[in-house]
Formats: sequence, structure tokens, C-alpha cells
Amino acid sequence: MDIVLNRRSVRKFDLNKMIPHEDLVDLIKHGEAAGTARRQKSREYIIIENKDIINELAKIYVKSSMNVKECNQMIAIIGKKTEDMAAPEFVPTDCALALENIMVYAVSKGIGTVMLGTYPNKDRFAAANKLLKLTEDKFVFTFICLGYPIDKDNAFYDMNKFDEKVISYIK
Ligand SMILES: Cc1cc2nc3c(=O)[nH]c(=O)nc-3n(C[C@H](O)[C@H](O)[C@H](O)COP(=O)(O)O)c2cc1C
Repeated sequence: MDIVLNRRSVRKFDLNKMIPHEDLVDLIKHGEAAGTARRQKSREYIIIENKDIINELAKIYVKSSMNVKECNQMIAIIGKKTEDMAAPEFVPTDCALALENIMVYAVSKGIGTVMLGTYPNKDRFAAANKLLKLTEDKFVFTFICLGYPIDKDNAFYDMNKFDEKVISYIK
């Protein structure tokens, strides 16, 4: 299966089945394989399995298509604003690269994912930072909700989004 073309946002998970801890770490390992500007160490991750926190997060993401209460496991991607960042303006880009790596690699493990748009929406990331008790020098870039899809047959498929019109040429 082409894991890039078959990645889809999955929002219905089998809540009786937990993703093993080592698989979550493996996903993060693949997130960390993504490049960062000037090789800065700009990302951290929080694995969230606490139902009280997930229910509190659901209040922040009321307008999300994903009903956040309907997942048991999440990964928060945290961007760093510490003074040792060589290219601080690129920290969100560093985080975005890790995010896509994780979501794409998850397909190879039969794990469904959906991201919750957070940074740079100030209302969302400020509320999320507070809930996770992050220090001032860190911010929530995004959350990924994860789980095994209920409807496995329709979870991963190639939507054929590609339209060659998105390409122009400068020769
Ligand atoms: C920046 C960004 C923010 C998103 N935020 C949310 C969100 O808050 N809740 C949600 O359910 N999906 C969210 N999504 C997922 C999109 O709805 C999804 O990618 C889009 O509908 C295309 O579907 P696909 O991911 O299956 O290709 C977000 C996607 C992006 C790129």
C-alpha cells in the first residue's frame, strides 16, 4: 500500500483496543526523523491517555469534526521557544514535518490518525498550553488523535486528490 496516498483522516476508533506503548514511541521516532531548521532540537511530544484531560481537550475543540471524547490516545506535538533555537521562526515548520511523518507512518501499522488544528490559532494553543501546564518556552503545535479504525475497509484509501493544475512551470 502506498502509505502517503492512502493516509486519510480517521475519526472513529475502536475504543476497546489500545495502541501499545512501543508503537506510539515508534511513531514518534518516525516524527523525529523529519528534518529541522539548522538541526535545532525544536520538538517534544506528550503521549496522552488520561480520559479527564482528553475530556477537557474536547471542550477546546468543540468545532472540530473529530469528537475528541471519542479517542483514548493522543500525541501532542510541542514546539520549543527556548533560547537555544537556532532558527526560532521555523519551529512550526519543524513540527509540521514531524506531524505528517507520524500520520503517514501510522498507516503502515493500521493506525488511524486525525490532527486537531491548533497553532497558530491563539485561542486553541493558549488553552491547550494551560491545560497541559506547559512552561512559557513551549507551545502545543498540534494534537494527533489516534486509534485503530472501526471501519478498517474505509479507513485508508487513495482519494486521488491530485490535479495537475496545481503545477506551473518556470523554465
Ligand atoms: C491545518 C489542519 C487543521 C485540521 N484541523 C482539524 C480539526 O481540528 N479536526 C478534525 O477533525 N480534522 C482536522 N483536520 C483534518 C482535515 O479536516 C482533513 O485533513 C481534510 O478534511 C482532508 O481529509 P484527509 O485528511 O482524509 O485527506 C485538519 C487538517 C489540517 C491540515
